[in-house]
Amino acid sequence: MDIFAHRGVSAHYPENTIAAFQAAARLPIAGIELDVHLTADKEVVVIHDETIDRTSNGSGYVKDFTLQQLRTFDFGSWMSPKFSGETIPTLGEVLELFAGTNHRINIELKTDIISYEGIEALVLKEVAAQQMTERVIISSFNHESLQTVSQIAPYIESAALFAEVLVDFTTYIALIPAKALHVSLPTAFRKSVKLALAEGAIVRVYTVNDERHARSLQQLGIHALFTDDPEKILLTLS
Ligand code: G3P
Ligand code: CA
Repeated sequence: MDIFAHRGVSAHYPENTIAAFQAAARLPIAGIELDVHLTADKEVVVIHDETIDRTSNGSGYVKDFTLQQLRTFDFGSWMSPKFSGETIPTLGEVLELFAGTNHRINIELKTDIISYEGIEALVLKEVAAQQMTERVIISSFNHESLQTVSQIAPYIESAALFAEVLVDFTTYIALIPAKALHVSLPTAFRKSVKLALAEGAIVRVYTVNDERHARSLQQLGIHALFTDDPEKILLTLS
């Protein structure tokens, strides 16, 4: 079972920052997960929320700032003063960080609340520029975004995110089409997920931070989990 560092090593570093991704790059894990939004000047930036309020010393919507304006805010101090000076990374900067490793990069398009016209093409352009097409997984809760991805780049691995259970995952993801399903931990043990696994679907589970669940998922035959604390889960499964 593969391990993905969720928003980087976010248990110990400020989520979705270069510090959190550098920590992940040092670990023998399969990959990382990150979230992207679009700035006012159409730069793809790595941040989880639509606003910068929770994870910076600023306030407001990502979409209302230019990249230059966003760079003036501190994205590390909210967690600890020792991380002060961390800035918001662009997608390109994070991809560059992993240029010399074998880690897979799961880019989650955060288009479920704000649609961000053209974000799919911009993300795919960055991935192609870094020659990372084969290492990237593009996921989203907004499955229309995944349809757009599959129209532009049918060869790229995409994954449909689900917070809740569907009766027939296999038929549904074939329609998008998406290659994998990423399900929440509370739904991972449901009959329909087991059926999808038996039918050959790639199933990854978010967000798994305790040892007991990690071991149960491994027994179930899940392909990967997303965790904030990859070192802890590595130790559990070793
Ligand atoms: O991609 C899995 C997981 O990250 C989805 O939920 O809210 O952490 O982005 P969230
Ligand atoms: Ca995410």
